[in-house]
Amino acid sequence: MDRLNGPADLMIVSDLDFTMVDHDDPENLALLRFNALWEAHYRHNSLLVYSTGRSPTIYGELRKQKPLLTPDITIMSVGTEITYGESMVPDDRWKQYLDHNWNRETVMEETAKFPELTLQSETEQRPQKISFYLEKGKASKVMQALSKCLEKRGLDVKIIYSNGIALDILPKAAGKGQALKFLLEKLKAGGLIPINTLVCGDSGNDAELFTVPEVYGVLVSNAQEELVQWYAENARGNAQIIHATERCAAGIMQAIVNFSLGRNVSPRDISDSMFKRKNLSPGHEVVMFYLFYERWRRGEVENSEQYIQILRSIFHPTGNFVHPSGVDQPMHQSIDTLVNLFGDKRGIDFHVWVDRVSFAEVSLGSWLVKFDKWESSD
Ligand code: GLC
Ligand code: MG
Repeated sequence: MDRLNGPADLMIVSDLDFTMVDHDDPENLALLRFNALWEAHYRHNSLLVYSTGRSPTIYGELRKQKPLLTPDITIMSVGTEITYGESMVPDDRWKQYLDHNWNRETVMEETAKFPELTLQSETEQRPQKISFYLEKGKASKVMQALSKCLEKRGLDVKIIYSNGIALDILPKAAGKGQALKFLLEKLKAGGLIPINTLVCGDSGNDAELFTVPEVYGVLVSNAQEELVQWYAENARGNAQIIHATERCAAGIMQAIVNFSLGRNVSPRDISDSMFKRKNLSPGHEVVMFYLFYERWRRGEVENSEQYIQILRSIFHPTGNFVHPSGVDQPMHQSIDTLVNLFGDKRGIDFHVWVDRVSFAEVSLGSWLVKFDKWESSD
């Protein structure tokens, strides 16, 4: 959070499965469009927060499978675990707070009385989250009965049904919405309340996010029945919340347009971007460069000397490219090697994206830009 010098322009708090990530799109096109937009225009002054039902274990698996950017803050296990930064430092205060009047054993005893409940995998059982599978048709009845049982035992719990299949039991003070409120309080205390906050979700455990005061919200077009129903009953008249017509990450970008939250054209949506270049920021330049690199190697742009000339003109004659291995070479030399790579990835599902772009002016007009560059080809 201290990466920024002041309050974030925009804080995006997004669910992952079927919100940021579209599991029905093996090419991850919308996600890659979002990534380019974020790194080009938001990374340097905004905060990216993932709020997922996943435990740390299977969150880690998703990070390996999909081109997800590195978030600033990660809220996992349905708002019961908050971590900060890339090294994912846990918020122990939040954990302690949730322990109040929470008793795992009692919940286990009571849930054992319901044969309709099937325990989820071991990884998804967390200190303050117990998760089951439960058939949709039986959900409301079981939830009511279970809630009564737990109340009788004097526990303050929250029961949440998601994706038409998953049932989570958490301390009452937990959940995605409560975790976000806690985070906003914390930012406020440090004078860092974001100028705008946008929450994004698709299923039952995301409903709470939309109840946090003063945030904008988007239900992606593919939202689950339980969330759409919640929206119809609770939020339809609220102009700060929309049900997008676009799926997943494209729905998030639609919300950025709808609520005028800042730049909304992904560099990926600009064809022939090299000729339409605008000198916006070093971060933007890096995104544009690698976008061109992808298109060049896929053979999707014209094999023209003009492009190479424009590239050469962007980089200062003495500019250097330093690889993590320590190899250091003039940028113009890197551009020369690019010439021979034209079309070598033609017909392949080849994608390039950058993550964690940061920049600083080291002397007048000279910028040091750092970033991670990723490539995937299937
Ligand atoms: C994720 C979690 C699962 C939880 C579900 C709904 O899929 O892995 O444990 O039940 O989200 O919150
Ligand atoms: Mg989801």
